Amino acid sequence: MSFNTFGHLFRVTTFGESHGPAIGCVVDGCPPRIPLTEADIQPYLDRRRPGQSRYTTQRQEPDAVKILSGVFVDEVSGKQVTTGTPIALLIDNVDQRSKDYSDIKDKYRPGHADYTYDVKYGLRDYRGGGRQSARETAMRVAAGAIARKIVPSLTVRGALVQMGPHRIDRARWDWAEVDRNPFFCPDPKTAAMLGDYLDGLRKRGSSIGAVIEVVAEGVPSGLGAPIYGKLDGDLAGALMSINAVKGVEIGAGFAAAELAGEQNGDEMRMGNDGKPLFLSNNAGGILGGISTGQPIVARFAVKPTSSILIPRRTVDRYGRETEISTIGRHDPCVGIRAVPIGEAMVACVVADHYLRQRGQVGGPPAWPLPAAPR
Ligand SMILES: Cc1cc2nc3c(=O)[nH]c(=O)nc-3n(C[C@H](O)[C@H](O)[C@H](O)COP(=O)(O)O)c2cc1C
Repeated sequence: MSFNTFGHLFRVTTFGESHGPAIGCVVDGCPPRIPLTEADIQPYLDRRRPGQSRYTTQRQEPDAVKILSGVFVDEVSGKQVTTGTPIALLIDNVDQRSKDYSDIKDKYRPGHADYTYDVKYGLRDYRGGGRQSARETAMRVAAGAIARKIVPSLTVRGALVQMGPHRIDRARWDWAEVDRNPFFCPDPKTAAMLGDYLDGLRKRGSSIGAVIEVVAEGVPSGLGAPIYGKLDGDLAGALMSINAVKGVEIGAGFAAAELAGEQNGDEMRMGNDGKPLFLSNNAGGILGGISTGQPIVARFAVKPTSSILIPRRTVDRYGRETEISTIGRHDPCVGIRAVPIGEAMVACVVADHYLRQRGQVGGPPAWPLPAAPR
């Protein structure tokens, strides 16, 4: 299977399946002399880890990451730093239970990728979904932790802003709240009711979708390239590559279609720091595929988990009509654990474009021009 690599100068290749012995990735292109230990990566993996609340899958994976290559203890500083060579990361799978999945061996789950893998490859690893499983996304989160260290002063944060019909009240947005509830929800009032809502769904054997917002601050202006290298294009591709993502928006996104030009275009003034001050951010920090220096704002829609207990009509691999009801361990709302994954993908794209900018243009932006011609 090809296409397991993303990024240009910050390049990540992942490997592994849900029920294989381990999952891993190789991060290539990371600059040398960046301090890096497992402790820099583990906290991000811990946020994505399954089995942490009753609202996510009960699969118990410690997701302890090992750095296999690409680091060395620098004699001068005494710190372990990157060497500029490929960084290989490995996570052992410890809680695979193949018997949970025997019911889906021959039948196709509506909404899942069972049919398309079979029709394309003629076989599939049905144990936990094999490579279709979001187990692979742990490696994206690990790579994202390295990406965050490449861009000075970069902060990437994500939050769940909608679950099913329940949207947050943006007036109550509190970033500190995101880590206080098991839903990564920034609105305490909405977070307080999501538990009962999910319990009800689970009792019915159902699942639900969600919308995640990722905000990247400290992104220098000038990252990205016109046309085929648009920063927003790469962000959309990276976020859409996450399992179960069916929609991506940047800035005002689809709502921009309802706006008039004078409402949408972000007006500019000069700030005290000598940089332009944008009076709004409908552009989501990107114009012409190039970052403005404003926060980058991306949202993505995650569909409801396809593996549900409610019986559904389907067919099997031998062309027979049948029914399926999926037992086993599944996230009732995969959007919850998609939050740290979305953050990681944004961090990887920004780091990649940061290195590309350095490669093509070099130093800081050439703006403002010295003097206006008379
Ligand atoms: C964090 C996370 C966990 C997921 N867990 C499950 C799961 O337990 N059961 C399931 O049916 N799908 C789960 N998915 C979604 C499937 O992996 C995904 O729907 C499937 O690979 C088909 O791909 P597509 O939805 O992108 O078309 C999960 C997705 C994410 C992001």
